[in-house]
Amino acid sequence: MRNDIERVLIDEEVIEKRLDTMAAEIERNFPEGPLVVIILLKGALVFAADLLRRVPRVLEIECLNVASYHGGVESSGRVDFLDRHFPEVRGHHVLLLDDILDTGRTLHAVKERLLEEGAEAVHTAVLLAKDKQRAEEVSADYVGFEIGDEFVVGYGLDYQGKYRNLPYVGVLKLSVTH
Ligand code: IMP
Ligand code: MG
Repeated sequence: MRNDIERVLIDEEVIEKRLDTMAAEIERNFPEGPLVVIILLKGALVFAADLLRRVPRVLEIECLNVASYHGGVESSGRVDFLDRHFPEVRGHHVLLLDDILDTGRTLHAVKERLLEEGAEAVHTAVLLAKDKQRAEEVSADYVGFEIGDEFVVGYGLDYQGKYRNLPYVGVLKLSVTH
């Protein structure tokens, strides 16, 4: 697997330190009371598991399956909700977790849906945010790292379903994607 990586962008130790401070920010900022966390599958799985164990409060954890990339390296421009049931969020503060903010379509669409479903407020956290013009007017309340506009894998992020279990964020060799 390591052979497919051109370079490591953010190593494991740096990610772990940042998650400590992100978790502390989240813990500090959230009002008392029930908090529902929504994990966007599958990309936010690794980030969420590592972040949430650092947040010392009672949480309810739900997962949502959405698709926008359909396995390639560019956004398809459409966000599909793939679950039959939508989590109950009426009247709750929601913390929405995704792996990366790219065009912004995913976070925007899911946030809108959560508000439609009656969430009291929707806060968003992403491990990574690409420094680029977004297709939708959206930003994340908590950002782990700002990165350049390039395709990355690891720490939950995939290329055609693979590389999610890399413990760091890296860039694939051109020979893998071409
Ligand atoms: P957005 O809707 O364009 O903001 O894209 C969000 C989704 O696209 C993320 O949840 C990822 O699954 C996927 N994505 C965007 N950029 C990358 C990348 O560089 N590597 C892997 N997946 C990405
Ligand atoms: Mg993906």
